Amino acid sequence: MKSVSFAPSILSADFSKLKEEVKSVEEVADFIHVDVMDGHFVPNITIGPVVSNSLKRSKEIRIPFSIHLMITDPDKYASEFEVDSEDLIIFHSEVTDNPREMIDKVRGLGCQVGISQKPGGDLGEILPILDELDEVLVMGVEPGFGGQQFMPETLERIEVLRREISDRGLETAVAVDGGMNPSTVVEAVDAGADTIIAGSAVFGREDRVKAVKELRKAVQ
Ligand code: DX5
Ligand code: ZN
Repeated sequence: MKSVSFAPSILSADFSKLKEEVKSVEEVADFIHVDVMDGHFVPNITIGPVVSNSLKRSKEIRIPFSIHLMITDPDKYASEFEVDSEDLIIFHSEVTDNPREMIDKVRGLGCQVGISQKPGGDLGEILPILDELDEVLVMGVEPGFGGQQFMPETLERIEVLRREISDRGLETAVAVDGGMNPSTVVEAVDAGADTIIAGSAVFGREDRVKAVKELRKAVQ
């Protein structure tokens, strides 16, 4: 059976008790997903290194972080995030002319590296550098907000990436972010996703453990 990773996104969590929220999914999730937005790259502002680093420094939190930088200047801010070898920093292809340089910079921080793209982006920019990436994050919605409907046309992007990764014998993970629920998760995994990022489908529910378990069950 293919193994699928789950990364609940704190964007839909209660920010007044963030540590407890992260802890509430630790036993069932593989990553905690941290959405960083600057009000420029996307029309919303969330959190930055101050909050992420506070969580990271908490001795009670053990789960790896997947830090999704929806910002125009990852070059300037990526190094502000405290990370270790199991964590992942994801930047967007749209904000750099030299993704290879950005990949090296992020890897130099001692963590894993991912790249993402808005749903209309040119996958041709990512295919040549797949071997340098730990993860490609396919947006299932226009980035900026939780709770949006999955765009089915993005399934094809997952398929293209999965085919290319298999053909070249690479290990790069294909994540999908946005609009995931117990029904869309099945289509995404069938298309080739092996990492599911879900905000409202987890933190919008009273019982977060049950919510993640339901997502997992849907793709077993
Ligand atoms: C959206 C963010 C997502 C968001 C997903 O721009 O990148 O990580 O939290 O939220 P849901 O799962 O509610 O669509
Ligand atoms: Zn995200």
